Amino acid sequence: MNWFYLLLVIPELCFTMVCGYSLGLKMMGGGGFGAPKKPSFAYTGAITPGKVGPKLDVPASIGRPDYAKDGVPKLGSDKGPLWDVKPVAAEDIPRMRASGRIAREVLDTAIRMVEPGITTADIDKVVHEATIARNSYPSPLNYHGYPKSCCTSINEIICHGIPDTTKLQAGMIVNIDVTIFHDGVHGDCSETVFVGGVEACDPKVKDLVVTTYEAWQAAIAVCKPGTKYNELGGIIEDIIKPKGYSSVKEFCGHGIGRVFHSAPNVLHYRNAQRLGTMAPGHCFTIEPMICMGSAKPVNWPDNWTAATADGKHTAQFEHTLMITEDGVEALTGKIDDSPKYGWM
Ligand code: MF3
Ligand code: CO
Ligand code: CO
Repeated sequence: MNWFYLLLVIPELCFTMVCGYSLGLKMMGGGGFGAPKKPSFAYTGAITPGKVGPKLDVPASIGRPDYAKDGVPKLGSDKGPLWDVKPVAAEDIPRMRASGRIAREVLDTAIRMVEPGITTADIDKVVHEATIARNSYPSPLNYHGYPKSCCTSINEIICHGIPDTTKLQAGMIVNIDVTIFHDGVHGDCSETVFVGGVEACDPKVKDLVVTTYEAWQAAIAVCKPGTKYNELGGIIEDIIKPKGYSSVKEFCGHGIGRVFHSAPNVLHYRNAQRLGTMAPGHCFTIEPMICMGSAKPVNWPDNWTAATADGKHTAQFEHTLMITEDGVEALTGKIDDSPKYGWM
């Protein structure tokens, strides 16, 4: 399995999940006759799961990634060493630009609809429809079995929140993460949005979001041929640590192209790992998850949603980037009519 690169380091997460589950079983005690009780799970904050609706349909005419049917990615499973980062084929460069642009348009459509009272499933439906309207497939759908077409992560949810019947309320923050597959390649981006506007948000949470944005931008700014992927984490931590914030280690950015998640592993914390060196044609994401308190993730029983262990807030931004001859292009960068960031 490709878990290695999935924006993550799943071994720890699986471990957390397994422990949480067996702990729950122990806590429910001796059983007896009656209907078996559900194992309890200690949600770390106020956000708990709602009801998840059925997977939405994609018209048969739309080109799909290889995992769409059985959930198992096949391309890229013959991967070499992590630091051996391959540029995309020359003929895929315009495709990467087109997919990045579509992901941006879909994310913008989702951002525009955010207001108190809508559900995260409402966002998912709009993302799904805006994606298929652009002759594209919503990449998360059935990826390793993922049940929905985007991720919606509220307040203490680090990433991979599953859209459901949870209603957005003024003062919440929600990260919407959109990935689309078009003409054979993926484009991936996310933004953290203030529900009810920035005025409704606790100033401390606003500072977390703005600082996350600044750290993300600082990392993007050093991307060019010759920069080592392992330089990015230190740049991010130099900005967030003086404020007392922490950077999640268990999930990382990733190479992207014909495969959703590939080399390089883009770590968002200070490290000296052998991760490779940027060169023209490299396509990858930077997507730091920055936390007000503990950066330790706890996996929900749904096996996807990652929450902070202390229940404190966390924020994230993501672009798909391409290294050019002399710098970097944000393939999912904002376009003229994109909504402005909430605090600007
Ligand atoms: N879009 C996420 C990323 O940034 C991945 C979501 S995979 C899913 O890499 F299966 F959870 F949707
Ligand atoms: Co993403
Ligand atoms: Co990503």
